[in-house]
This record gives sequence, C-alpha cells and structure tokens, in this order.
Amino acid sequence: MEPTIDRILISENALRDRVAALAEEIAATYRDADGGIAIVTVLAGSIVFLADLIRRLPMRMRVGLAMVSSYAGPTRVSEGAVLRSWSLPDVAGLDVLIVDDIVDTGGTLRVVQRAVAGLDPRSVRTAVLLRKVAKAPADVSVDFVGFDIEDVFVVGYGLDYDGVYRNLPYVAVLADGGPGPRPVS
Ligand code: PRP
Repeated sequence: MEPTIDRILISENALRDRVAALAEEIAATYRDADGGIAIVTVLAGSIVFLADLIRRLPMRMRVGLAMVSSYAGPTRVSEGAVLRSWSLPDVAGLDVLIVDDIVDTGGTLRVVQRAVAGLDPRSVRTAVLLRKVAKAPADVSVDFVGFDIEDVFVVGYGLDYDGVYRNLPYVAVLADGGPGPRPVS
C-alpha cells in the first residue's frame, strides 16, 4: 500500500522565502562571472527547485541536465548512485553550479561532481534545497543549502516516493517520519 503524507515539513511560504535568499547568495557569489555560468541540474527531483531558483538569478546561464538514479521503485533505502546520461553545454572554463533537491548519502552528488570536474570547468559549486545533516559525507562539498533536515523520508516540491508526490507545493514527511527542518543561516 502506498504510504500517506504524515505532515508538512516545509510550507510553500517557507520554501519561497528560502529560495529567494539562496538566489541572492548565489547571485552575489557569481557577480563577476562575466561569461555567465553553467547550471547542471540533477533530474528529476530538482525540477521544481531549479525552476524557482533560476527565475531569481539574474546572470547569463546555460542549463544542462544530468540523469542520476539512486532510489529504484518503492524503496526508501538508497541503492547506490549511477550516472545514467547527461546533456550538457560546453562547461570548459566556465563556473558550474550543480543543483539538486537533496543530499542524503551524498552518492548522487559525488558522481556528478566528479564527472563535472573532469570537464575542465573554471569552478564547481553545488546548491541543494535539503541536506540530511546526519548523513551527508564530508567529501561531498555543498556550497548553498536551503534547509538542514533530520533523517526522514521527504516528498513534494520535486521529491518523489516511487514516482509520485513530486507535484506537492510543499515538502512533506511520509507516514512514519521524524522531526522538523532547521533553516541554514
Ligand atoms: C534522489 C534525490 C537526489 C538523491 C539524493 O534522487 O533527488 O538526487 O536521491 O540521495 P543521495 O544523496 O543518497 O544520493 P533519485 O535517485 O531518487 O532520483 P529522482 O531525482 O529522479 O527522484
């Protein structure tokens, strides 16, 4: 049986305000990137965050897509990240910002960061909406974080459980979840 939503963890208003603040941080970081930046977004969980974030970023940019999968089917347990395919602009010499919805075990970002680093970019930074603080490994650097959360299975705002719930406008905990979010200051 498909699990139900237990509770809203991060409201629409909180998401909007935090994404706006993150966009300001990111814009300030790249204010001297004259040639623009390249975004590499990790499908499919990042789609809603990406759409809201990039519409608040003023700089010239190109957007590339990376397809990485770590949760296959109706499971809450990571099964290891695999880079399945990608479609990227030429990032050589450019500042690259990797965008993903969540860093959990870090396996997904580790794969993407290593792959992007091999394309001779000028710099590589990473932005995530959510970070599971207790699990994110030290070797996966994340430069911009929306919210630190506990180790609960979250859905909505792009995140799925077995392909559904991505369209929820808020982040919610599935039934059997745990405690709440901590905005990153
Ligand atoms: C989810 C999520 C992140 C990744 C984080 O992707 O969107 O990309 O897992 O987990 P990790 O830090 O343990 O690697 P998933 O593989 O479920 O694919 P999806 O984005 O299509 O939902």
